[in-house]
Amino acid sequence: HKHLIDITEYSADDIMQILETAVTFMEVNERKIKKVPLLKGVTVVNMFNEPSTRTKSSFELAEKRLSCDVLNFGGKSTSVVKGESLVDTLETLDSYKIDMVIVRDRHAGVPRLISQHTPAAVIDAGDGKHQHPTQALLDLFSIWRAKGSLDKLHVGIVGDIGHSRVCGSLIPALKIMGAEVTVIAPNTLLPARPDVLGADHVTANLNEALPELDVVYMLRIQRERLEGAPYPSLREYNMLFGLTREREKFMKPDAIVCHPGPINRGVELDSYMADHPERSVILDQVYAGICTRMAALYLLLGGSDNGLSA
Ligand code: CP
Repeated sequence: HKHLIDITEYSADDIMQILETAVTFMEVNERKIKKVPLLKGVTVVNMFNEPSTRTKSSFELAEKRLSCDVLNFGGKSTSVVKGESLVDTLETLDSYKIDMVIVRDRHAGVPRLISQHTPAAVIDAGDGKHQHPTQALLDLFSIWRAKGSLDKLHVGIVGDIGHSRVCGSLIPALKIMGAEVTVIAPNTLLPARPDVLGADHVTANLNEALPELDVVYMLRIQRERLEGAPYPSLREYNMLFGLTREREKFMKPDAIVCHPGPINRGVELDSYMADHPERSVILDQVYAGICTRMAALYLLLGGSDNGLSA
């Protein structure tokens, strides 16, 4: 693959190759000297036109630990605010002979558009409500490490499905890897056509779904994308769809809790569950972000063909 824009272009073998490479990078990250010269001389542009904590910081660290030259660029500090188009901006950056662009944008489709105007490889770091493929990879990695396998695992994804680019990549990725997926949400937070998601089951009853689930994946209510007063209200939402301490009794004893972050504590997830020492893998997901992004960078930039081994 040249780009990582649409996870459905990746097979189970492709995904497993990334996850296994990420294990190698986990070992690198845990060494005293974390930096390796595998991508020395490779120039990567991080173009973040929308806020990010986890994705931006982990891409930048992943690039630096692989010895890339890194250019952080985007948002309000660029000449886009003076009216320069995205394509002109890209062509300007291309003059520097860049090798890869990591792009986050509020508009769906921007990473694909960029890939049509640059010879550089492109990774989608989250585009509108569309996809977030490296989030899916780090989620798969965390679930695989915690549960030992992805095949036949039952994963419930709870909450603001309609606004979620995480779902846009995670649901197809879980299906590619053989998992069963249940979506749990009020109708008002589903996409107009829930069938497009490809989930096996859709329900609005969290209490009924919980006993079946091996993984409970909670989504953030995206207040910035909700127009007017949300329905249900945040308080009602917590009562009906929040993973609360009281709801733990419905969960399998070994079920784990995931969340892509950032968390609205007290809305979709109570602190008791977010910080649960046995169940929560949320900080493991953050750490997986570095390892899987190192793997994706390495494999996309010819790492497996360049005669170097991690
Ligand atoms: N999960 C995720 O994409 O977080 P950020 O928006 O902070 O990058």
